[in-house]
Amino acid sequence: MNQLLKDEIVAGLKSSIPFISPKFFYDDIGSRLFEVITLLEEYYPTRVEKSIMKMYEHQIVSAVGTCDVFLDLGAGNCEKASELFDSVKPQQYLALDISKDFLESAITDLQQRFPHIKMTAEVCDLSQPLNFPNLVNKKKTFFYPGSSIGNFHPDHVSSFFKKITTICDGSGGLLIGVDLVKDSQVLQKAYDDSLGVTAAFNLNALLHINQILGSNFDLADWEHFAIFNESESRIEMHLRALRDVQITLPDDSLSFKAGEMIHTENSYKYTKDSFTNLLIEAGFKNVETWTDPKEYFLVCYAKA
Ligand code: AVJ
Repeated sequence: MNQLLKDEIVAGLKSSIPFISPKFFYDDIGSRLFEVITLLEEYYPTRVEKSIMKMYEHQIVSAVGTCDVFLDLGAGNCEKASELFDSVKPQQYLALDISKDFLESAITDLQQRFPHIKMTAEVCDLSQPLNFPNLVNKKKTFFYPGSSIGNFHPDHVSSFFKKITTICDGSGGLLIGVDLVKDSQVLQKAYDDSLGVTAAFNLNALLHINQILGSNFDLADWEHFAIFNESESRIEMHLRALRDVQITLPDDSLSFKAGEMIHTENSYKYTKDSFTNLLIEAGFKNVETWTDPKEYFLVCYAKA
């Protein structure tokens, strides 16, 4: 197993505020648990985004127009992108995701349904620099649905958007979905559901890490904790130690006090204005937005 990855995880766990990057949620089990989360009544983002896409399909499609290359930045099972193929008519589809588990089989299926589109899948960590040398002079539409952008700190979002405008080089743009600030009870329930699926999703990060590090985190020692941090405008997920915990690694050890927390995820929530401003400040020329009647979620097309 990759030593850099191990070092990254251990450094996070040993930091003064221990953390695990949310990218470690998505092993085989975690990717499936996330799919289940999207089916939960309390987890509204996936369902509401889909309803916005359906309700405003004509407007969205006419704003986006056609493109040469459709770049899917959090492809997962590729379902959301494939629903746009008939209108966007890309020659090429590039599916990127942090987890290869769904990606390859999804692409194989899709290629049969859309034989004329050239499809490629790539495992990619969006917190690392983006680079698409082969796509110069092609009209690119970036697609980043599901409020995955919420995992990034707003400062990082700005530089990420700037990079996209640079890569677009005056044509194409970004179709992106983002979760909006709302009643904190609604937010908290979405990240602490009654069936305990989100708790399992959060705890599973420890099992994933046990596999990578050879560590011995015991799920019985930890509980899921999710809270809306209003001043930072983000849902935070943590794992809280239920008792003093000693962890053994092959050549190291870690200890946590009862009540100590490991921070596993931030999910930033925006207002329509704050998000539109981020896009405009990054250099997009024009932003169109669509939302649902309760204004739970926002879909934007930012023209490069
Ligand atoms: C995949 C980052 C959009 O923040 O809502 C769901 C992940 N975490 N439940 C989100 C998640 C807990 C999700 N994103």
